[in-house]
Amino acid sequence: MDPSLNQRVTSQDADRRNDSRKAGPGDTAPDSIPALNRCLVLVGMMGAGKSAVGRQLAQRLGLPFLDADTEIEKAAGCSIAEIFEQYGEAHFRDGERRVIARLVDDGPIVLATGGGAFMDADTRALLKEKALTVWLNADFDILWDRVSRRTHRPLLQTADPKGTLKRLMTERYPVYTEADITVVSDEAPKDETVNRVLAAVSDYIEGETK
Ligand code: S3P
Repeated sequence: MDPSLNQRVTSQDADRRNDSRKAGPGDTAPDSIPALNRCLVLVGMMGAGKSAVGRQLAQRLGLPFLDADTEIEKAAGCSIAEIFEQYGEAHFRDGERRVIARLVDDGPIVLATGGGAFMDADTRALLKEKALTVWLNADFDILWDRVSRRTHRPLLQTADPKGTLKRLMTERYPVYTEADITVVSDEAPKDETVNRVLAAVSDYIEGETK
C-alpha cells in the first residue's frame, strides 16, 4: 500500500468533516451525549450493521461518520477485494491498522470498522485507549441472512462460506466482548438499534463520571 496513505487520508477527512457539518434538508436536532469527547467506534462481524447503524448514529449525534473500509479503499485506490487478491490479507491488515490509527486521532467521529479490525492487538489497544467501542452483537442467522446477499467480502469466498462465518464468529466473539459496550443487532428496525446504542453510550458515560 502507498506509504503516503496516512497523509492523504488526513486531508480527505478534513474535507469530508467540513461537508458533514453542514446542515441539510431533513436534518434533525442532534441527540446530545454529554462528555462524548472521543470517537465512537463500532466493531463486530461482517453483516452486524456497523456502517448502516453508524451512519444514522452520526446523524443523530451531529458528528461526522467514516467507514474504515471505505477510507482504506480510497487511500489504496482499489477495492478491498482487489487488495486481498493482489497483496494478501496481511497487507490489508497493515493498511487497516494505519488508517484506523489516523482516523481516531482526528477528534470525535463515529467510525465503523471492518469485522477483523478489533482482532488486531495494536488496533484493539489503541481503540481501548482513545475511543469508546461498541460491539454490535448479532447471531449467526442474522449475519448469514445479510452477508449471503452480497459477494464482495473476500473472506467469505470459500467453498463453505457458512462454515467460514461460523468459524470466524467462534474466533472473534470472545475478543469482541472486550469492547466497552455491547448492543444487540437483530431484526429490529435500524433506528431501534441506533436508539439502543445511544442509550447504552449515555449509561456508560454516566457510569464513568460517577
Ligand atoms: C472483514 C470485514 C470487512 C472488510 C474485509 C475483512 C473481516 O468489513 O474489512 O473484507 O475480516 O471480517 P465488514 O465487516 O464491514 O464487512
